Amino acid sequence: MPRRPIIAGNWKMNKTVAEAKELVNEFIPLVNGVGDVDIVLCPPATALQFVTSAVKDTNIDVGSQNVHWEDSGAFTGEIAPPMLKELGVKYAIIGHSERREYFGETDEGVNKRARAALKADIIPIICVGESLETREKGDYLGFVAGQVKAALNGFSNEEIGKLVIAYEPIWAIGTGKTATFEQAEEVCAHIRKIVADIADKSAADAIRIQYGGSVKPATIAGLMEKENVDGALVGGAALKANDFSQIVKFKG
Ligand code: PGA
Repeated sequence: MPRRPIIAGNWKMNKTVAEAKELVNEFIPLVNGVGDVDIVLCPPATALQFVTSAVKDTNIDVGSQNVHWEDSGAFTGEIAPPMLKELGVKYAIIGHSERREYFGETDEGVNKRARAALKADIIPIICVGESLETREKGDYLGFVAGQVKAALNGFSNEEIGKLVIAYEPIWAIGTGKTATFEQAEEVCAHIRKIVADIADKSAADAIRIQYGGSVKPATIAGLMEKENVDGALVGGAALKANDFSQIVKFKG
């Protein structure tokens, strides 16, 4: 079964609503007619309402950059799954390395957030990836496998098949240093093998695995040629309509 490519733009803490308007209005016509790839914009929470309404009736979907595990309650600063669902948000980035590094996000929290998202019919984009130190020590495959197993703990095979996992080596994020196509493929293939081990072959065949870390228009085609790379999670280059549209149109 061929997997449908998914290219997501993670705006991180960038773009006011006014700036989001400019970016989205420029971007929509640039990708008009692209029908064979899922296109996802992940603006900051303050722009979710604007972006979801702006892309309604287009080929673009919207994702949040985080989601809490409870439906409501005393969790200052967090956003609940039903709040996102109400806006028409379809995806949620969970466990980005910046959340793990600066905001204490744990593997256990990632698992809880992903479970809550799925319950609300929001597709988790679960981020994993090793630091430069872990890579240089050598056991980066084991490290990433541990993150994947913890994130998927307790999920059914069917649930796992619906997920997106983004492999983002921390040393490649925002550094301009993309992993080589072979490095990306090695870890994405390993993630698929881990999924086959903890679930089954059909879940491993269905799950979509993105590469993320300094993806640019010049590198996307080579990445997408790799058998186990099904898409990209794009930071910096997603802040420019023209660059991001070129990435989305990687087939040329
Ligand atoms: P980058 O960010 O493309 O700017 O490296 C990717 C990400 O952190 O999702």
